[in-house]
Amino acid sequence: MTKTVQLDASTAVPVPGFGAMGMSAFYGEHDDDTSKQTLRKAIEIGCTVIDSAFVYGMGHNERLIGDVLREGDNRKKVFLISKFGIEINDKGELETDGSPENVIRSIDRCIENLGGLYPDAYLQHRVDKKTPIEETVRALDAVRKEGKTKYIGLSECSADTLRRAAKVAKIDFVEVEYSPWELTMEKNGIIDACKELGVKILAYSPLGRGFLTGRYKSPEDFATADGSDFRANLPRFAKENWERNYRIVQEFERVAAKKGCTPAQLALSWLIHQGDNIIPIPGTKSSKYLVENFAATSVDLSPDELAEVRKVIEDNQPVGTRYAESQMASLEG
Ligand SMILES: NC(=O)c1ccc[n+]([C@@H]2O[C@H](COP(=O)([O-])OP(=O)(O)OC[C@H]3O[C@@H](n4cnc5c(N)ncnc54)[C@H](OP(=O)(O)O)[C@@H]3O)[C@@H](O)[C@H]2O)c1
Repeated sequence: MTKTVQLDASTAVPVPGFGAMGMSAFYGEHDDDTSKQTLRKAIEIGCTVIDSAFVYGMGHNERLIGDVLREGDNRKKVFLISKFGIEINDKGELETDGSPENVIRSIDRCIENLGGLYPDAYLQHRVDKKTPIEETVRALDAVRKEGKTKYIGLSECSADTLRRAAKVAKIDFVEVEYSPWELTMEKNGIIDACKELGVKILAYSPLGRGFLTGRYKSPEDFATADGSDFRANLPRFAKENWERNYRIVQEFERVAAKKGCTPAQLALSWLIHQGDNIIPIPGTKSSKYLVENFAATSVDLSPDELAEVRKVIEDNQPVGTRYAESQMASLEG
Protein backbone atom coordinates (compact mmCIF):
# COMPACT_ATOMS: atom_id res chain seq x y z
CA MET A 1 0.00 0.00 0.00
CA THR A 2 1.63 3.26 -1.11
CA LYS A 3 1.22 6.17 1.27
CA THR A 4 1.98 9.71 0.20
CA VAL A 5 2.58 13.14 1.66
CA GLN A 6 1.05 15.99 -0.31
CA LEU A 7 3.67 18.71 -0.86
CA ASP A 8 1.42 21.14 -2.69
CA ALA A 9 -1.57 21.16 -5.02
CA SER A 10 0.32 19.33 -7.78
CA THR A 11 2.88 17.12 -6.02
CA ALA A 12 2.60 14.17 -3.64
CA VAL A 13 5.58 12.01 -2.66
CA PRO A 14 5.64 8.41 -1.38
CA VAL A 15 6.67 7.62 2.20
CA PRO A 16 8.95 6.47 3.65
CA GLY A 17 11.73 8.02 1.62
CA PHE A 18 15.33 6.93 1.58
CA GLY A 19 18.55 8.40 3.01
CA ALA A 20 21.71 7.81 0.97
CA MET A 21 24.30 9.11 3.47
CA GLY A 22 25.80 5.73 4.43
CA MET A 23 26.61 5.05 0.78
CA SER A 24 29.33 7.70 0.96
CA ALA A 25 30.24 8.48 4.56
CA PHE A 26 30.01 8.06 8.32
CA TYR A 27 28.76 4.44 8.58
CA GLY A 28 31.82 2.35 7.75
CA GLU A 29 32.60 0.67 4.45
CA HIS A 30 30.60 1.27 1.30
CA ASP A 31 30.78 0.01 -2.23
CA ASP A 32 29.57 2.01 -5.24
CA ASP A 33 28.27 -0.95 -7.27
CA THR A 34 26.14 -2.20 -4.37
CA SER A 35 24.95 1.33 -3.64
CA LYS A 36 23.90 1.88 -7.25
CA GLN A 37 22.00 -1.41 -7.22
CA THR A 38 20.17 -0.26 -4.09
CA LEU A 39 19.37 3.12 -5.65
CA ARG A 40 17.98 1.37 -8.75
CA LYS A 41 15.94 -0.93 -6.51
CA ALA A 42 14.52 2.10 -4.69
CA ILE A 43 13.33 3.52 -8.01
CA GLU A 44 11.95 0.13 -9.09
CA ILE A 45 9.80 -0.28 -5.97
CA GLY A 46 8.66 3.36 -5.91
CA CYS A 47 10.69 4.49 -2.88
CA THR A 48 11.56 7.65 -4.71
CA VAL A 49 12.24 10.39 -2.15
CA ILE A 50 16.04 10.30 -1.95
CA ASP A 51 18.01 12.40 0.53
CA SER A 52 21.61 13.45 -0.14
CA ALA A 53 24.06 16.22 0.84
CA PHE A 54 27.37 17.61 -0.35
CA VAL A 55 29.08 16.63 2.91
CA TYR A 56 28.21 12.96 2.34
CA GLY A 57 31.58 12.18 0.85
CA MET A 58 32.23 15.77 -0.29
CA GLY A 59 30.20 15.38 -3.47
CA HIS A 60 30.59 11.59 -3.75
CA ASN A 61 26.96 10.96 -2.76
CA GLU A 62 25.58 13.50 -5.25
CA ARG A 63 27.77 12.05 -8.01
CA LEU A 64 26.67 8.48 -7.20
CA ILE A 65 23.00 9.43 -7.29
CA GLY A 66 23.51 11.55 -10.41
CA ASP A 67 24.97 8.52 -12.22
CA VAL A 68 21.84 6.45 -11.47
CA LEU A 69 19.41 9.29 -12.20
CA ARG A 70 20.91 9.78 -15.65
CA GLU A 71 20.07 6.16 -16.56
CA GLY A 72 16.93 5.84 -18.74
CA ASP A 73 14.04 7.93 -17.42
CA ASN A 74 15.08 7.59 -13.76
CA ARG A 75 15.30 11.35 -13.22
CA LYS A 76 11.56 11.78 -13.79
CA LYS A 77 10.74 9.16 -11.16
CA VAL A 78 12.74 10.56 -8.24
CA PHE A 79 12.21 13.43 -5.81
CA LEU A 80 15.79 14.37 -4.96
CA ILE A 81 16.80 16.38 -1.91
CA SER A 82 20.31 17.67 -1.36
CA LYS A 83 21.85 19.87 1.28
CA PHE A 84 24.66 22.42 1.46
CA GLY A 85 26.40 24.55 4.05
CA ILE A 86 28.74 22.15 5.82
CA GLU A 87 32.03 22.89 4.14
CA ILE A 88 35.68 21.95 4.59
CA ASN A 89 37.88 24.91 5.51
CA ASP A 90 41.56 25.46 4.72
CA LYS A 91 42.59 23.49 7.81
CA GLY A 92 40.55 20.50 6.68
CA GLU A 93 37.91 21.07 9.36
CA LEU A 94 34.15 21.06 8.81
CA GLU A 95 32.46 24.44 9.22
CA THR A 96 29.07 25.94 8.44
CA ASP A 97 28.70 28.54 5.71
CA GLY A 98 25.24 29.95 4.99
CA SER A 99 26.48 33.06 3.21
CA PRO A 100 24.58 34.03 0.04
CA GLU A 101 27.82 33.54 -1.95
CA ASN A 102 28.05 29.97 -0.69
CA VAL A 103 24.39 29.27 -1.51
CA ILE A 104 25.08 30.24 -5.13
CA ARG A 105 28.41 28.36 -5.26
CA SER A 106 26.86 25.26 -3.67
CA ILE A 107 23.83 24.88 -5.94
CA ASP A 108 26.08 25.09 -8.99
CA ARG A 109 28.45 22.55 -7.47
CA CYS A 110 25.48 20.26 -6.69
CA ILE A 111 24.22 20.48 -10.29
CA GLU A 112 27.72 19.74 -11.55
CA ASN A 113 28.00 16.72 -9.22
CA LEU A 114 24.65 15.47 -10.48
CA GLY A 115 25.97 15.64 -14.05
CA GLY A 116 23.79 18.58 -15.03
CA LEU A 117 20.61 17.52 -13.21
CA TYR A 118 18.81 19.78 -10.72
CA PRO A 119 17.73 18.70 -7.23
CA ASP A 120 14.00 18.97 -6.46
CA ALA A 121 14.68 20.36 -3.00
CA TYR A 122 17.73 22.19 -1.69
CA LEU A 123 18.25 22.56 2.07
CA GLN A 124 20.67 24.31 4.38
CA HIS A 125 22.31 21.46 6.32
CA ARG A 126 23.16 23.44 9.48
CA VAL A 127 22.21 26.97 10.46
CA ASP A 128 25.23 29.27 10.20
CA LYS A 129 25.48 31.46 13.28
CA LYS A 130 27.66 33.95 11.35
CA THR A 131 24.98 34.65 8.70
CA PRO A 132 21.48 35.89 9.55
CA ILE A 133 18.99 33.25 8.41
CA GLU A 134 17.15 35.92 6.41
CA GLU A 135 20.21 36.33 4.13
CA THR A 136 20.59 32.60 3.56
CA VAL A 137 16.90 32.13 2.81
CA ARG A 138 16.77 35.12 0.46
CA ALA A 139 19.60 33.51 -1.54
CA LEU A 140 17.91 30.10 -1.48
CA ASP A 141 14.67 31.65 -2.68
CA ALA A 142 16.57 33.36 -5.51
CA VAL A 143 17.98 29.94 -6.50
CA ARG A 144 14.41 28.62 -6.55
CA LYS A 145 13.20 31.56 -8.65
CA GLU A 146 16.05 30.87 -11.08
CA GLY A 147 14.60 27.37 -11.49
CA LYS A 148 17.60 25.48 -10.08
CA THR A 149 15.42 23.83 -7.41
CA LYS A 150 11.67 23.72 -6.81
CA TYR A 151 11.60 23.50 -3.01
CA ILE A 152 13.80 24.85 -0.23
CA GLY A 153 14.33 24.08 3.43
CA LEU A 154 16.47 23.99 6.55
CA SER A 155 17.92 21.24 8.70
CA GLU A 156 18.41 21.20 12.47
CA CYS A 157 16.96 24.68 12.95
CA SER A 158 15.03 25.98 15.95
CA ALA A 159 11.36 26.98 15.78
CA ASP A 160 12.45 30.60 16.09
CA THR A 161 14.82 30.35 13.11
CA LEU A 162 12.12 28.63 11.06
CA ARG A 163 9.62 31.39 11.82
CA ARG A 164 12.16 34.07 10.83
CA ALA A 165 12.98 32.16 7.63
CA ALA A 166 9.29 31.73 6.76
CA LYS A 167 8.82 35.50 6.87
CA VAL A 168 11.32 35.81 4.00
CA ALA A 169 10.12 32.97 1.75
CA LYS A 170 8.00 29.82 1.74
CA ILE A 171 9.94 27.09 3.53
CA ASP A 172 8.91 23.68 2.24
CA PHE A 173 10.96 21.28 4.37
CA VAL A 174 12.67 20.98 7.71
CA GLU A 175 14.99 18.00 8.19
CA VAL A 176 15.40 16.94 11.83
CA GLU A 177 16.34 13.87 13.80
CA TYR A 178 13.03 12.34 14.80
CA SER A 179 12.51 8.74 15.85
CA PRO A 180 11.10 6.72 18.72
CA TRP A 181 14.51 7.26 20.25
CA GLU A 182 14.68 11.01 19.71
CA LEU A 183 11.65 13.04 20.72
CA THR A 184 13.30 16.44 21.27
CA MET A 185 11.51 17.76 18.19
CA GLU A 186 8.13 17.11 19.81
CA LYS A 187 9.13 19.27 22.78
CA ASN A 188 11.13 22.19 21.37
CA GLY A 189 8.34 23.66 19.27
CA ILE A 190 9.73 22.76 15.84
CA ILE A 191 7.03 20.22 15.01
CA ASP A 192 4.30 22.67 16.03
CA ALA A 193 5.91 25.43 13.96
CA CYS A 194 6.11 23.11 10.93
CA LYS A 195 2.42 22.24 11.23
CA GLU A 196 1.47 25.89 11.58
CA LEU A 197 3.59 27.00 8.58
CA GLY A 198 2.72 24.05 6.30
CA VAL A 199 6.30 22.73 6.36
CA LYS A 200 6.96 19.03 5.69
CA ILE A 201 9.24 17.20 8.11
CA LEU A 202 12.02 14.96 6.81
CA ALA A 203 12.60 12.69 9.81
CA TYR A 204 16.24 11.67 9.69
CA SER A 205 17.85 8.75 11.53
CA PRO A 206 14.31 7.35 12.02
CA LEU A 207 15.73 3.99 13.08
CA GLY A 208 17.93 5.56 15.76
CA ARG A 209 20.93 5.20 13.41
CA GLY A 210 20.06 1.52 13.03
CA PHE A 211 19.88 0.78 16.76
CA LEU A 212 16.10 0.22 16.84
CA THR A 213 16.33 -2.53 14.24
CA GLY A 214 17.90 -4.86 16.82
CA ARG A 215 20.80 -5.56 14.50
CA TYR A 216 23.49 -4.04 16.69
CA LYS A 217 24.13 -6.09 19.81
CA SER A 218 27.05 -4.27 21.43
CA PRO A 219 29.14 -1.09 21.03
CA GLU A 220 31.81 -3.21 19.33
CA ASP A 221 29.43 -3.63 16.38
CA PHE A 222 30.26 -0.03 15.41
CA ALA A 223 34.01 -0.52 15.66
CA THR A 224 35.80 -0.58 12.30
CA ALA A 225 39.53 -1.00 11.69
CA ASP A 226 39.75 2.45 10.07
CA GLY A 227 37.38 4.20 12.53
CA SER A 228 35.05 5.16 9.67
CA ASP A 229 31.81 4.47 11.58
CA PHE A 230 31.14 7.66 13.51
CA ARG A 231 28.53 5.90 15.69
CA ALA A 232 31.44 4.41 17.65
CA ASN A 233 31.88 7.89 19.19
CA LEU A 234 28.26 8.72 19.94
CA PRO A 235 27.45 8.95 23.66
CA ARG A 236 24.25 6.92 23.20
CA PHE A 237 26.26 3.94 22.02
CA ALA A 238 28.96 4.23 24.70
CA LYS A 239 29.64 1.11 26.78
CA GLU A 240 28.34 2.73 29.98
CA ASN A 241 24.98 3.60 28.34
CA TRP A 242 24.46 0.49 26.22
CA GLU A 243 22.63 -1.77 28.66
CA ARG A 244 20.22 0.97 29.78
CA ASN A 245 19.56 2.11 26.22
CA TYR A 246 19.15 -1.42 24.86
CA ARG A 247 15.83 -1.83 26.70
CA ILE A 248 13.91 0.00 23.97
CA VAL A 249 15.31 -2.42 21.38
CA GLN A 250 14.00 -5.39 23.35
CA GLU A 251 10.61 -3.71 23.75
CA PHE A 252 10.43 -2.94 20.01
CA GLU A 253 11.30 -6.57 19.26
CA ARG A 254 8.50 -7.71 21.58
CA VAL A 255 5.82 -5.42 20.12
CA ALA A 256 6.93 -6.05 16.52
CA ALA A 257 6.76 -9.84 17.01
CA LYS A 258 3.20 -9.48 18.32
CA LYS A 259 2.31 -7.31 15.31
CA GLY A 260 4.02 -9.62 12.81
CA CYS A 261 6.43 -7.01 11.49
CA THR A 262 10.08 -6.12 12.02
CA PRO A 263 11.24 -3.58 14.65
CA ALA A 264 12.36 -1.27 11.81
CA GLN A 265 8.88 -1.37 10.26
CA LEU A 266 7.30 -0.69 13.65
CA ALA A 267 9.49 2.39 14.15
CA LEU A 268 8.75 3.74 10.66
CA SER A 269 5.03 3.04 10.83
CA TRP A 270 4.84 4.74 14.24
CA LEU A 271 6.58 7.83 12.81
CA ILE A 272 4.31 7.97 9.75
CA HIS A 273 1.33 7.85 12.12
CA GLN A 274 2.57 10.96 13.97
CA GLY A 275 1.35 13.39 11.29
CA ASP A 276 0.43 13.75 7.65
CA ASN A 277 3.45 16.00 7.07
CA ILE A 278 6.10 13.47 8.18
CA ILE A 279 8.45 11.79 5.71
CA PRO A 280 10.87 9.39 7.43
CA ILE A 281 14.09 8.91 5.44
CA PRO A 282 15.63 5.64 6.72
CA GLY A 283 19.13 5.02 5.41
CA THR A 284 20.59 1.80 4.12
CA LYS A 285 23.19 0.55 1.70
CA SER A 286 21.32 -2.68 1.03
CA SER A 287 18.35 -3.54 -1.19
CA LYS A 288 17.12 -6.02 1.42
CA TYR A 289 16.64 -3.41 4.15
CA LEU A 290 15.33 -0.87 1.65
CA VAL A 291 12.50 -3.22 0.62
CA GLU A 292 11.76 -4.05 4.26
CA ASN A 293 11.64 -0.38 5.24
CA PHE A 294 9.47 0.72 2.31
CA ALA A 295 6.96 -2.00 3.25
CA ALA A 296 6.43 -0.30 6.64
CA THR A 297 3.28 1.37 5.29
CA SER A 298 1.61 -2.05 5.23
CA VAL A 299 1.86 -2.04 9.05
CA ASP A 300 -1.24 -0.23 10.22
CA LEU A 301 -1.35 0.68 13.91
CA SER A 302 -4.64 1.03 15.79
CA PRO A 303 -5.09 3.77 18.41
CA ASP A 304 -4.47 1.15 21.14
CA GLU A 305 -1.29 -0.05 19.43
CA LEU A 306 -0.09 3.52 18.94
CA ALA A 307 -0.66 4.17 22.64
CA GLU A 308 1.26 1.00 23.55
CA VAL A 309 4.22 2.02 21.37
CA ARG A 310 4.12 5.58 22.75
CA LYS A 311 4.34 4.18 26.28
CA VAL A 312 7.27 1.92 25.38
CA ILE A 313 9.02 4.91 23.84
CA GLU A 314 8.41 7.31 26.72
CA ASP A 315 9.43 4.72 29.31
CA ASN A 316 12.68 4.08 27.48
CA GLN A 317 14.13 7.41 26.38
CA PRO A 318 17.89 7.17 25.89
CA VAL A 319 20.70 8.36 28.08
CA GLY A 320 23.56 10.19 26.36
CA THR A 321 23.36 13.04 23.85
CA ARG A 322 22.50 12.34 20.21
CA TYR A 323 25.80 13.72 18.90
CA ALA A 324 29.25 13.98 20.45
CA GLU A 325 29.69 17.10 22.58
CA SER A 326 31.77 18.89 19.91
CA GLN A 327 28.96 18.50 17.36
CA MET A 328 26.08 19.44 19.67
CA ALA A 329 27.03 23.12 19.33
CA SER A 330 26.07 23.12 15.64
CA LEU A 331 22.50 22.04 16.40
CA GLU A 332 19.77 24.53 17.22
CA GLY A 333 17.14 21.94 18.12
N1 LIG B 1 20.11 16.47 8.16
C1 LIG B 1 21.00 15.85 8.90
O1 LIG B 1 21.76 16.46 9.65
C2 LIG B 1 21.10 14.35 8.83
C3 LIG B 1 21.85 13.65 9.79
C4 LIG B 1 21.91 12.26 9.69
C5 LIG B 1 21.24 11.60 8.67
N2 LIG B 1 20.54 12.31 7.74
C6 LIG B 1 19.81 11.64 6.63
O2 LIG B 1 18.93 10.66 7.16
C7 LIG B 1 19.17 9.40 6.58
C8 LIG B 1 18.85 8.28 7.55
O3 LIG B 1 19.53 8.44 8.77
P1 LIG B 1 20.66 7.45 9.28
O4 LIG B 1 21.21 6.69 8.12
O5 LIG B 1 21.55 8.26 10.13
O6 LIG B 1 19.93 6.49 10.30
P2 LIG B 1 18.79 5.39 10.27
O7 LIG B 1 18.02 5.48 9.01
O8 LIG B 1 18.09 5.53 11.55
O9 LIG B 1 19.64 4.04 10.33
C9 LIG B 1 20.53 3.67 9.33
C10 LIG B 1 21.27 2.42 9.77
O10 LIG B 1 20.33 1.37 9.98
C11 LIG B 1 20.66 0.24 9.19
N3 LIG B 1 19.37 -0.29 8.68
C12 LIG B 1 18.48 0.38 7.90
N4 LIG B 1 17.37 -0.38 7.74
C13 LIG B 1 17.58 -1.53 8.40
C14 LIG B 1 16.79 -2.69 8.60
N5 LIG B 1 15.57 -2.79 8.09
N6 LIG B 1 17.32 -3.69 9.36
C15 LIG B 1 18.56 -3.59 9.91
N7 LIG B 1 19.35 -2.51 9.74
C16 LIG B 1 18.86 -1.48 9.00
C17 LIG B 1 21.55 0.75 8.08
O11 LIG B 1 22.41 -0.28 7.71
P3 LIG B 1 23.15 -0.42 6.28
O12 LIG B 1 23.58 0.94 5.87
O13 LIG B 1 24.28 -1.35 6.56
O14 LIG B 1 22.21 -0.98 5.32
C18 LIG B 1 22.28 1.90 8.76
O15 LIG B 1 23.39 1.41 9.47
C19 LIG B 1 20.64 9.47 6.15
O16 LIG B 1 20.95 8.53 5.15
C20 LIG B 1 20.74 10.90 5.67
O17 LIG B 1 20.26 11.01 4.34
C21 LIG B 1 20.45 13.68 7.82
